[in-house]
Amino acid sequence: MRRKIIAGNWKMNMAGDEARMLAQGIRDRVQSVRHVEVLVCPAFPFLQEVGNVLRGSQVRLGAQNMHWEPQGAFTGEVSSRMLLTAGCQYVILGHSERRLYGGETDEQIRKKVAAALAAGLIPILCLGETLEERESGQTQRVVGGQLESAVQGVSREEMSPLIIAYEPVWAIGTGRSATPEMANEVHAFLRERAAGLWGTDAAEKIRIQYGGSVTETNAFGLFSQPDIDGALIGGASLKPDLFSTIVLMGAQHTGG
Ligand code: PGA
Repeated sequence: MRRKIIAGNWKMNMAGDEARMLAQGIRDRVQSVRHVEVLVCPAFPFLQEVGNVLRGSQVRLGAQNMHWEPQGAFTGEVSSRMLLTAGCQYVILGHSERRLYGGETDEQIRKKVAAALAAGLIPILCLGETLEERESGQTQRVVGGQLESAVQGVSREEMSPLIIAYEPVWAIGTGRSATPEMANEVHAFLRERAAGLWGTDAAEKIRIQYGGSVTETNAFGLFSQPDIDGALIGGASLKPDLFSTIVLMGAQHTGG
């Protein structure tokens, strides 16, 4: 059975005390949960502080982006080694907000995935279609293309830590989540694509999170689906009560 993984993407929210208090709130509320992997992804300047709050707990730390080069003249960028030094184990890559507002390309995302894997960070690779693409029947073509492009050249041996987050763009921050069946259909498709790339064993093991307006009201239904292995949560991850409720729902599906 794949272990569920629930991640909070704080985006450009929570500074200083707010970040510390949110981390404390989550840490204290999920301490009894054993079989779900839980992580939070604060903004860069607060990684270390949040990491200090989480030390000794089972809540892990992730970042929201990184550059593919190990170091150098890249003003404003952050490297894998910096993230590791700050205590990160995970890094979100290719989020649609970065693709859309940051002009991030498939090629850049491919380089980031390769760099994260090489550095020993666990990439959470985000993909998803826009509303227009869904309505014109292109969801599979789009997400399949995003996956294949992002992992080009990644071997079966290298891919095992990789996590995929299916996040339909139209569901992010809109309050309009995909239905569990709708999401599962895409997850199953992505797993099939993963099987084509790395074989069925690897595809059975890869974890695919759903993201896009996950709340305490829809999480349980989403987690009940066979191919949904957790969630990447934006808005609801900023409220310790909501986020921990979702984590507990994940735990109910994995036996604690
Ligand atoms: P949301 O964001 O939960 O606020 O829709 C999800 C995400 O962007 O990862």
